[in-house]
Amino acid sequence: MILEIKNLNKSFGGLKAVNNVNMAVEKNNIHAVIGPNGAGKTTFFNCITSIKPSDSGEIIWKGEDIAKVPTHIISTKGISRTFQNIRLFSYMSVLDNVLVGTHNLTKSFILDACFHSRRFKTEEKDMREFGMELLKKVGLADKAGEYAKNLPYGEQRKLEIARAMASKPEILLLDEPAAGMNSQETAELVGFIRQLKNDGFTILLIEHDMKLVMTLADVISVIDYGSKIAEGAAADIQSDERVIEAYLGKRRYE
Ligand SMILES: Nc1ncnc2c1ncn2[C@@H]1O[C@H](COP(=O)(O)OP(=O)(O)O)[C@@H](O)[C@H]1O
Ligand SMILES: [Mg+2]
Repeated sequence: MILEIKNLNKSFGGLKAVNNVNMAVEKNNIHAVIGPNGAGKTTFFNCITSIKPSDSGEIIWKGEDIAKVPTHIISTKGISRTFQNIRLFSYMSVLDNVLVGTHNLTKSFILDACFHSRRFKTEEKDMREFGMELLKKVGLADKAGEYAKNLPYGEQRKLEIARAMASKPEILLLDEPAAGMNSQETAELVGFIRQLKNDGFTILLIEHDMKLVMTLADVISVIDYGSKIAEGAAADIQSDERVIEAYLGKRRYE
């Protein structure tokens, strides 16, 4: 078990956005987290990455409780994420956006950077090559020099994934990576996420596209009103009464 969540809680005022959630993520699995809009999925990711630290509970990452570890340290531990609302630097190039994600890998001191020492230059060159490799992986190498803001939406999502990979993580937390993608882009994304699994990554995936989730996920956890209401393989989830109720019941699925 590479990541284990125990009794995790997070409230906003009186609202229990994450309510005593337990979850075990196995290494090299694609583990999907689904649930109606407002169920608490993004908040769950925000707790794991300490963007919004949890109120109580444990987040055991490779044997260490990281629940109280600040967010800037989390990425140095091999955990990286993308955001539901794309967070790119619009007026930076596509490649530079990826390089932002490598900041926890670079060893040059600020003085090296100021004086453009040899170490700084070598490191910068290596990082640029590494950044280009990542762009190739997501199919954006030919757009390396463009402003991020000029990419179509689907490509901005791919760029977010490349940037998340730039910190050389072991686990990728993807928050609705297919949102706004057309069917062709979604199909490419499916292939790409499969490739990530083949490359040894562990993937925790929030996604609304049910077809994508059902084809990709090894395990699916269903969240409703902050609580985990079901968990299992696609076939089990699809026939689970509580899941059907959560999606097709009183509240309509987004
Ligand atoms: N920063 C915040 N302050 C107050 N309420 C929040 C905040 N973030 C999320 N919420 C609330 O927590 C609940 C879960 O939200 P969220 O985690 O974004 O759900 P999901 O990602 O499943 O759609 C929602 O009711 C939302 O309005
Ligand atoms: Mg969300």
